[in-house]
Amino acid sequence: MVKIGIIGVGTVGASVVNILKDNADVISARAGVDIVVKSGVVKNLNKDRGLDIKLTDNVDDILNDDEIDIVVELMGGVEEPFEIVKKALRNGKAVVTANKALLAYHRYELQEIAQDIAFEYEASVAGGIPIINALRDGLSANHIESIMGIMNGTSNYMLTEMIQNGVNYDDILKKAQDLGYAEADPTFDVGGYDAAHKLLILASIAYGIDAKPEDILIEGIENISKEDVDFASEFGYAIKLLGIAKKDKNMVELRVHASMISKNEMISKIDGVMNGISVVGDKVGETLYYGPGAGGDATASAVIANIIDIARSGKSRPMLGFDRPMEAGLKLKPIED
Ligand code: NDP
Ligand code: HSE
Repeated sequence: MVKIGIIGVGTVGASVVNILKDNADVISARAGVDIVVKSGVVKNLNKDRGLDIKLTDNVDDILNDDEIDIVVELMGGVEEPFEIVKKALRNGKAVVTANKALLAYHRYELQEIAQDIAFEYEASVAGGIPIINALRDGLSANHIESIMGIMNGTSNYMLTEMIQNGVNYDDILKKAQDLGYAEADPTFDVGGYDAAHKLLILASIAYGIDAKPEDILIEGIENISKEDVDFASEFGYAIKLLGIAKKDKNMVELRVHASMISKNEMISKIDGVMNGISVVGDKVGETLYYGPGAGGDATASAVIANIIDIARSGKSRPMLGFDRPMEAGLKLKPIED
């Protein structure tokens, strides 16, 4: 039996608990062992969650519990989870996280600390799409020429609803929050920061780039109105918030901003909470990844895949992805004024 402790039992954490129960047959068969949630940490113990697990408001109940093999960090934030994850690793626990903000700032420090303890983060980029797996393993024989796509479900959902149903910006943001798509602070979604966090994770795996959000151009969708969207549509374009990494000779440019995309392009047709990311490798050519980019069950699907993997193969292995050296001579293109 493998025992896990979940730090943060909100939208994603509750889905992890439910899916581990609903799909216990295939999960234990694939892991080769039963996976049991020993306890979960929440802020407010009085909230009724309808979950059949032991809850605490003290993270040390999990971090100091010798029976817990895997700590699943699903609380969000940056510095608080950084301290918690460091402690979990130092206490010999494998870690699974969906927290892209944490990785955008601290992935290389965590890489150092993890050493030979498993640390996985598939759900941190594009929710349910196994893009980390694809980029880290499936495309590892390639020089990556570009990564481009829709990496934030909330903003894509908002833009889609503004076009198709004429819903106004504030109402549709509220709906995205109610559906569990948005970050605790939705400025991250509409301001482009969440897409930037994901782009930085992908750029590290692809190029070995150690950059922070402050080092790249980030623009959001806050100033895009229904009129802009309608105007673009009249001329055959969709407006999408894109994360873009492009290599040109010895420079890699990273940027996040809204772009007009011809309706003939596949990416223009990706609507709602769906994400779609194109990765071009020098040998494989263009590959495309499409699927639900946010939401409890879709994200929990990726979190549990990591848990199964660790349960099956053991927790002694290095954290992969951020161990790649920067390609020789490659530099991050500075932001232009
Ligand atoms: P929620 O806000 O729904 O859940 C957060 C959980 O963490 C809640 O249970 C909350 O407790 C608990 N929590 C927060 N702060 C503390 C604290 N200081 N001490 C103890 N418990 C705390 O977030 P999500 O489930 O939506 O997201 C979790 C993580 O997953 C984030 O990093 C997010 O970026 C990432 N993610 C989310 C996706 C999504 O679609 N929602 C998709 C991909 C990644 P309480 O319930 O009592 O408030
Ligand atoms: N808030 C994020 C989004 C969650 O909307 O894409 C998934 O990372």
